[in-house]
Amino acid sequence: MDNKIGVGTGIGKIILIGEHAVVYGQPALAIPFPATKIKTTIRRKKGSITLNCFFHQGLLSNSPKKLVGLVSVIEQIVHSFNERLEDFSIDIESSIPPERGMGSSAAVAIATIRALYDYYNRLLTDDELFKWANVSEQIVHGNPSGIDMSIIIGETPLYYIKGKAFVPFTFKLDAYLIVADTGELGQTQAAVSSVRKLVESNPEEGKSLIKQLGVLTNRVKVSIEKKDVVKLGQSMTKAHSLLKKLGVSNSSLDRLVSVALDNEALGAKLTGGGRGGCIIALASTIQQADFICDKLLSNGAKNTWILDMELIKNGQ
Ligand code: MEV
Repeated sequence: MDNKIGVGTGIGKIILIGEHAVVYGQPALAIPFPATKIKTTIRRKKGSITLNCFFHQGLLSNSPKKLVGLVSVIEQIVHSFNERLEDFSIDIESSIPPERGMGSSAAVAIATIRALYDYYNRLLTDDELFKWANVSEQIVHGNPSGIDMSIIIGETPLYYIKGKAFVPFTFKLDAYLIVADTGELGQTQAAVSSVRKLVESNPEEGKSLIKQLGVLTNRVKVSIEKKDVVKLGQSMTKAHSLLKKLGVSNSSLDRLVSVALDNEALGAKLTGGGRGGCIIALASTIQQADFICDKLLSNGAKNTWILDMELIKNGQ
């Protein structure tokens, strides 16, 4: 018997370092960001399936192009259950700003897959969840490394290398991570494909930048293990300059990074796909973090969050 209602959730994620390089087999470090969440609710409702979310309110079959990955995974799952594609509604509530490098597309897919399995009373393993979310992410991003899905499914800090087993990673630092939103939509797919073009057209430069990003990720891992927040900050700023050379920053991201650094952040960089979206900055005290957030907001940031790095949920 069907449930009358199915519910699923997915949290946001922040890539600390290693974005883009992770697509090419370099390591990346990411942390869960539960301050932002997605909740999908599926309810029994006679007739054609309806979807109510940030990008669309109406029939699922009339969804805009940017939701094609989500629509495809919904259809494939319902078919795999031998159920009919009708008689329910889908409501997606989100506090993850869309297309800002916080993993909203993967979180929407994960919350919705969980809700469908709950609605039809099926057991869902993490492997199946990854497989289904990947159906959507392949369409949305082209060639995802899998880091977004892994962090959102596991909800624990990850040292991630594409295709390899997760390395448990404990995170406890006496520092504060600021996330600041430019308010501009990021362009992950365009950024990922422009990096690919650079790697193909100028392999020497492209591969060298990617390798340097991988070296920095390993350096950051050591800095976190040694609780050296100053070195961690320096590596973040260096990563931003490499990402800029890779062509995935833009003037809004650069401006917010400069504002953070001018106001004594220990380091700052873009996070996620880039070309819009968010930056992260490191502060050693909550007072400093509050001060930097005020400066970011008065210099164009649309929103800011502060994460206490002593309180990040660890998986070990
Ligand atoms: C997107 O959150 C991170 C990128 O590295 C793409 C990916 O890993 O699939 C830009």
